[in-house]
Amino acid sequence: MKLFLDSAILSEIKEAVSWGIVDGVTTNPSLIKKAAQSRGEGEEAIDMEGYIKQILASVGRLCPVSLEVAALSVEEMVEQGKMLYERFDSVAGNAVIKIPVCTMNGRGEGNLFDGIAAINELAEEKIPINATLVFTPEQALLAAKAGAEYVSPFAGRVDDRIRRKAGITFEKPDYFPLNGITDESGKEMVNDYGLLSGVELVARIVEMFREYEIECEVIAASIRNAIQVRECAAVGADIATIPFGVLKSMVMHPGTSDGIDAFTADLVPEYLDLFKADENTGQEVSE
Ligand code: E4P
Repeated sequence: MKLFLDSAILSEIKEAVSWGIVDGVTTNPSLIKKAAQSRGEGEEAIDMEGYIKQILASVGRLCPVSLEVAALSVEEMVEQGKMLYERFDSVAGNAVIKIPVCTMNGRGEGNLFDGIAAINELAEEKIPINATLVFTPEQALLAAKAGAEYVSPFAGRVDDRIRRKAGITFEKPDYFPLNGITDESGKEMVNDYGLLSGVELVARIVEMFREYEIECEVIAASIRNAIQVRECAAVGADIATIPFGVLKSMVMHPGTSDGIDAFTADLVPEYLDLFKADENTGQEVSE
């Protein structure tokens, strides 16, 4: 499974890239806002164009970076998608345009199929598209059919919706069980559009794409903790896009730290001598 970093903060991106495990980056308007607001007091406002160019260059060729359009109508999304691609793909050949699968807002305003039509128009122009805000397998199917190269099911937000429906209070990074939760009676499973968890959403999309040999990569998005990454890998997600904090938590384990303490305490001088500088050459020796 490929690992993308879900961040627009350049310092995080550079650090994660330096670890050698980043296959791409995803941004969205909220992540861009966080980056813009993370400027220290007295620092100049962000030069957005230059900043995004630095992100693209830092991540590098062959590692896609998703940039989201701001508009909601098909005409404007196509115009913005083309503009973003033309302006930014030249930096490292890795720009991907993020289009919401459906741009109807919470008040029911907007055309239902503008997202799908915009994906289709941009894909026809050979612009790689990441269909975002995917909450059902049906939306993923429509996006893939329209020509999206990637779909982003929002696993964590599905879990949030189920917990809210069940009246459960929770913190963002809390683990949500893969097989779902029951209602107060303990008899009925709580679901969101027939799904018992965000990981189930990812699993259903992966199964459907495999069954019908649909060439569209599944990016497990809205990831909240390391166990969710493990579960998305187990159900066959092609990619998980992971926030910096979750990525850091993935490498930690108390057993590993205890082992480090024990091994460090057990280092005998004879063994440490192996690493001393060679008397003749002054070079560090490794054997
Ligand atoms: C990435 O493509 C998504 O925009 C992102 O994962 C959303 O995450 P959130 O639900 O934690 O905001």
